[in-house]
Amino acid sequence: MSFDKFAIMHIRPEVFDDRAAVYAVTHAAFAGIDPMVEPEEVSLLQELFDCDEYDSRFSLVALDGTAVIGHVIATWGNIAGVPTLGLGPLAVAPEYQHRGVGSILMQSIHDQAEAEALGGIVLLGAPGYYRRFGYEPALARGINPSDSTWGDHFMVRVFDERKLPTGHYQYAKPFGV
Ligand SMILES: CC(C)(COP(=O)(O)OP(=O)(O)OC[C@H]1O[C@@H](n2cnc3c(N)ncnc32)[C@H](O)[C@@H]1OP(=O)(O)O)[C@@H](O)C(=O)NCCC(=O)NCCS
Repeated sequence: MSFDKFAIMHIRPEVFDDRAAVYAVTHAAFAGIDPMVEPEEVSLLQELFDCDEYDSRFSLVALDGTAVIGHVIATWGNIAGVPTLGLGPLAVAPEYQHRGVGSILMQSIHDQAEAEALGGIVLLGAPGYYRRFGYEPALARGINPSDSTWGDHFMVRVFDERKLPTGHYQYAKPFGV
């Protein structure tokens, strides 16, 4: 995947002043039929930025020059009391999709997680997209979601299985699950 289409493409931790642009990117990425209706991911993000489980090391923006074109966040939940990151939302501005921005955001947050020597990250998402980043069904690793209907969409990326407990995954409070 090439990034030479971007003037200056880089990834860095999100700062407070990015947030309006992050909401706009998230709104555009998750917009339904009526673009005026705010997708629930925008209010979820607002709550995630304000919650105790927010950790600025795991909220990253992708920039084209100075413009925010993508964002990924992971917040602290726990497996049987052991702090474990839950990833999402991930959003790339529609006009920048299919150019590898989502992939580099995922790679960057994984690099950060590995630098912090974490055991793994969980997420709820499309297996067809997340398998390429090494995610596998979490249930097969003994990690259960609150909602059993999530099935194989509830996934885990294992960095160090010795540090990854089994049991119920509790998301950060704003997720409400
Ligand atoms: C999903 C998303 C973040 C991907 O960002 P991106 O920058 O386009 O991703 P990449 O360029 O790294 O990868 C694109 C590839 O991902 C795949 N892909 C994207 N969404 C997918 C999905 N839901 N299921 C399976 N594969 C998917 C496609 O194969 C695509 O390949 P193509 O370019 O040949 O069509 C972006 O499409 C987006 O913001 N979507 C709306 C919000 C969303 O669904 N977020 C994820 C929530 S789980």
